[in-house]
Amino acid sequence: MIENITAKDFEIFRNFVKESCGISLSYDRLFLIERKLEPIFKSFEFSDFSEFYEKLTSINGFFLREKLFDAITTNETCFFRDGHPFETFRNLVMPKIEFWLKNKSGGKKPGVRIWSAGSSTGQEPYSIAMIINQYASLMNSFSPDQIEIFASDISSGALGRAISGQYTSSQVKRGLSEQNLSIYFQQAGNKWIIDQKIRNMVEFKRVNFMENLSSLGKFDVIFFRNVLIYFDSATKTKILEKIYEMLSDDGYLFIGASEMIMGTDAGFKSERYDQTIFYKKVLPQTNLSSE
Ligand SMILES: C[S@@+](CC[C@H](N)C(=O)[O-])C[C@H]1O[C@@H](n2cnc3c(N)ncnc32)[C@H](O)[C@@H]1O
Repeated sequence: MIENITAKDFEIFRNFVKESCGISLSYDRLFLIERKLEPIFKSFEFSDFSEFYEKLTSINGFFLREKLFDAITTNETCFFRDGHPFETFRNLVMPKIEFWLKNKSGGKKPGVRIWSAGSSTGQEPYSIAMIINQYASLMNSFSPDQIEIFASDISSGALGRAISGQYTSSQVKRGLSEQNLSIYFQQAGNKWIIDQKIRNMVEFKRVNFMENLSSLGKFDVIFFRNVLIYFDSATKTKILEKIYEMLSDDGYLFIGASEMIMGTDAGFKSERYDQTIFYKKVLPQTNLSSE
């Protein structure tokens, strides 16, 4: 059983969490954290904090670290969360994607890539996939498989649920229209299973924003929604600098409705479309006279 974590232990633990996954834990969450750690202490049979911490920071502590990230991350999400950003994606970004794909032969873009960064249990990337599927069949000018949807999360538990494509009745009631539910889901007992063609449009991978992300390449659209709220401002800036490098020059960045990136110096400017604020890159001035 977990003994009460002392203030000093909590400070050490807090630093570890911040360094390893960026999440900033405040002291007023100590009680909550103790409750979240309780099942981990039980299943690993740790007798005290130092035993737990030693394993956590050891080379063979990978499985424990995974369990910890599962426990401390907040995986709250739903289909078409907040509605309007997905309307903006459909009405503003999809015509642009169609344009990019048509002009692909002009050598501008080799293909279109979308990243759902912090995709939790998958509702966000699957919402994107449903929009692409509908738009492609309406316009008939490109195939959905010309667009790559890459979805990532640090939590293996959330990723596993996303990959399964199975949702409960209460999850499908949040954000999905009757029409989308009947077109894209099949009921099996008390589960709803997403259509295989939507499932196959999304590639899931475990990614920690604190690690080097350059191998993931560039993206034309990045959904980085409701993730920044868990980081302090220095960590936010560090991660946004990576996102800046990974967004193509004419790409679109969506963050959560209650999140702010202005004031972080990350090099984005905000634009508005209907109710949605989204972000574009501010590009460094090119010196035209230096030829
Ligand atoms: C609240 S959910 C947001 C889900 C979805 N983007 C949305 O807006 O509905 C935040 C997600 O960010 C993930 N996350 C937190 N820290 C992370 C990190 N360092 N690297 C990758 N993902 C992280 C969490 O596991 C969680 O699933």
